[in-house]
This record gives sequence, C-alpha cells and structure tokens, in this order.
Amino acid sequence: MKKILITGGAGFIGSHVVRRFVTTYPTYQIYNLDALTYAGNLENLRDIEDSPNYHFVKGDIVDAAFLDQLFVEHTFDGVIHLAAESHVDRSISDPLSFVMTNVVGTVNLLNAAKKVWKDDLASHLFYHVSTDEVYGELHDPSEFFLENTKYDPRSPYSASKASSDHFVRAYHNTYKMPVLISNCSNNYGPNHFPEKLIPLMIHNILNNKPLPVYGKGENIRDWLFVEDHARAIDTIFHHGQNGETYNIGGHNEWTNIDLVKLLCKTMDEKLGRSPGSSEQLIQYVTDRAGHDLRYAIDATKLKNELGWLPSLQFAEGLEKTVDWYLANESWLDNVTSGAYQHYYEEMYEGR
Ligand code: NAD
Ligand code: TYD
Repeated sequence: MKKILITGGAGFIGSHVVRRFVTTYPTYQIYNLDALTYAGNLENLRDIEDSPNYHFVKGDIVDAAFLDQLFVEHTFDGVIHLAAESHVDRSISDPLSFVMTNVVGTVNLLNAAKKVWKDDLASHLFYHVSTDEVYGELHDPSEFFLENTKYDPRSPYSASKASSDHFVRAYHNTYKMPVLISNCSNNYGPNHFPEKLIPLMIHNILNNKPLPVYGKGENIRDWLFVEDHARAIDTIFHHGQNGETYNIGGHNEWTNIDLVKLLCKTMDEKLGRSPGSSEQLIQYVTDRAGHDLRYAIDATKLKNELGWLPSLQFAEGLEKTVDWYLANESWLDNVTSGAYQHYYEEMYEGR
C-alpha cells in the first residue's frame, strides 16, 4: 500500500490515525480528506503537517463529482473512512445531515473508488470505521456485542452508521469490493471535541460550570483510549481478512455518574482543589431522548485472530487525557470559541 486516503483526519479519532500512519509508515503517502466541519481542526495535526508524506485535501464527501475527480487524480491504493457526523445529540436535532454525510457520503466514496479500481479491485482496500452503537443497547450484564450481533440502531446517528455499514457490505457482496469494517466502543483521549461526555466535563470542571449528567447517570459505556483504537485500525488495515468485521473495545465499562465522579476526583487532585469540590458541580438534567442503556464490546475475535489488546488501564488513560487538556487549555479555548475555524479557513483558502 503506497497512497492511502484517510477521510475525517482532522477530527478526533482521524487525527490520531493520520499521525500514526504518517509517522509509522514514511514510505506511504497519506492524504487526509476533511470538510473541516465544526468537528474538524487542523490544529490536531500541527506536529506532522510538514511531513513530506502528509497531504491535506479540503473537501466534502457529499460532493460526488469532487470525489470522482479526486480518485481519478490520485487513484489511491486504499481508503480508511472515518469522516462522519458523530454526535448523538446533534443527530436528534438534525437527522438529515447525518443521512447526508454518513450514508450518502459513504456511498459516494464507494462509488468513486469502484470506478477507478474496477479493473484491479483485488489490489485495493476500502476500510470503513464504524461504531458499536449499530448493535443497539444491552440490558443483561452478562451480554456483550459480538460481530454477529443483530443490528438494532436506535438513534438517528446509529441508524446512519448502520446504513453505511450495510452499504459497505453490499459493495463487497455485489461488486466484490475488498472491504473491512470495524465497530468500536466509546473513545476518549486528547483532541476530543468538548461536546462529548469526557471533554465536556473536563472543560466544565476547569471553568467551574455545571456538569450535566443525563437522567440518573446510570447509562453504561465501554471506554477505549483513542491511541489504542488507532493501533487497532492499523492492525486491521494491514492484517484483517477481506470482507470481515472486527469489534474493538476496552472491556472497560463505567456508568456515567461513576465516570464523572472519577474525573472530578482526578481534576481536584491536579488542580489542587479541596477533595469533593468539583463533584458539587454535578447536575442531573433531562435525559437524552431514546438514551441507550449500555454498550459493551466483546473484542475476542480481534485478540485471537490479530493479536490486538488495549494497552492502557483506564486510570492511566484518563490521567493522560486530563494532563493533555490541562497542558492545552488554548486548544480548548479555541474550539469552544470557534477561533480555529477562521484561522485555517484563511490558511487553506485557494489551495
Ligand atoms: P469527529 O466528529 O471528531 O470527526 C469527524 C471528522 O469528519 C471531522 O474532522 C469533520 O470535519 C469530518 N467530516 C464531517 N463531515 C464531513 C464531510 N461531509 N466530508 C468530509 N469530512 C467530513 O468524529 P470522531 O469521534 O473522530 O469519529 C470518527 C469516526 O469514528 C466516525 O465515523 C465515528 O462514527 C467513528 N467512531 C467514533 C467513536 C467515538 O467514540 N468517537 C467510537 C466508534 C466509532
Ligand atoms: P457521548 O460522549 O455523547 O457518547 P455516546 O452518546 O455516543 O455514547 O455520551 C456518553 C454518555 O454520556 C451517554 O450515555 C450520554 C451521557 N452524557 C451525559 O450524561 N451528559 C452530557 O453532557 C453528555 C454529552 C453525555
């Protein structure tokens, strides 16, 4: 594999994947295609942006003509597709933009790849990065999501991701497109946009703002450090079996309220605040509509077949994350003010 297109590389997970590929594989040419929506921030990649094997392309995957042209120009040996609308709360207020980017955008990419790869499909690869939320919610504590768990998406976000997964499999079955899919649990770590639980709580604790816990805080998520996800994507991209799906997860379940309390304790220690002071900021607020109760991944297939295991214990990963936010308060200020978008808009104008 020489020329790889990574979509959504300016976002949270995408930026860690781009960095990993650019630095680990200097012989690869990495193209980061990103529309730079509110969630895309090139600041995330400033440390590698001058690398000779890194290239940024600003563009929207909803624009089929643009994608067709890009694939004719570059061909690409492989695609790692992460670009998406990713926040459940936004999908509840604006489902259609999730259909456009996550469903139409994915089909546009598959079509653009199919057109230029058609005479030699077998030597190419389309890797689609998806979520465990396509499997719905769990109630029985002994149950976990497996690769063959029936799809049961329950939010507009997860419905759009499930639909994109189905299209990827349909292109594999119908057109023999070589594909891989991975479904990962909740990620956390540096560069996470502060609309999601962990970075929002860090931001609000820092600024002494209320910590909004939905419902009773009893919902459970399975958290994985983002660099472990990027490593899993690397492993699957290089060693996964054509047409297969791999679940990725941390075996690390937390109720939201326990997680927020742990964050409060960690931040009190780091900020030299008196024990228990940040916890007083917790406020129970109206529950999310259709709030999934529990997600939990069984990642045995990935472990047994490809040898991947998470590397970090949660306490260590969370501390690393908090330290990053404390050392990068200007990043947090920029994304909450939106300043980063104007800066890079000017920088990339006309490219
Ligand atoms: P993110 O919202 O942080 O980043 C998404 C990126 O995609 C942004 O850079 C954005 O500018 C770009 N983008 C959005 N619409 C686009 C479009 N129409 N054209 C081109 N670029 C566009 O998302 P994330 O949390 O990094 O998630 C990345 C992928 O991983 C998504 O596909 C998501 O479904 C999946 N995933 C996320 C998690 C998680 O916990 N965050 C877990 C499992 C899977
Ligand atoms: P989130 O980070 O949005 O990820 P997802 O919904 O994709 O799992 O939310 C994680 C959990 O935290 C989820 O159960 C909703 C809850 N939550 C809150 O309680 N308060 C908040 O302000 C946010 C953003 C999320």
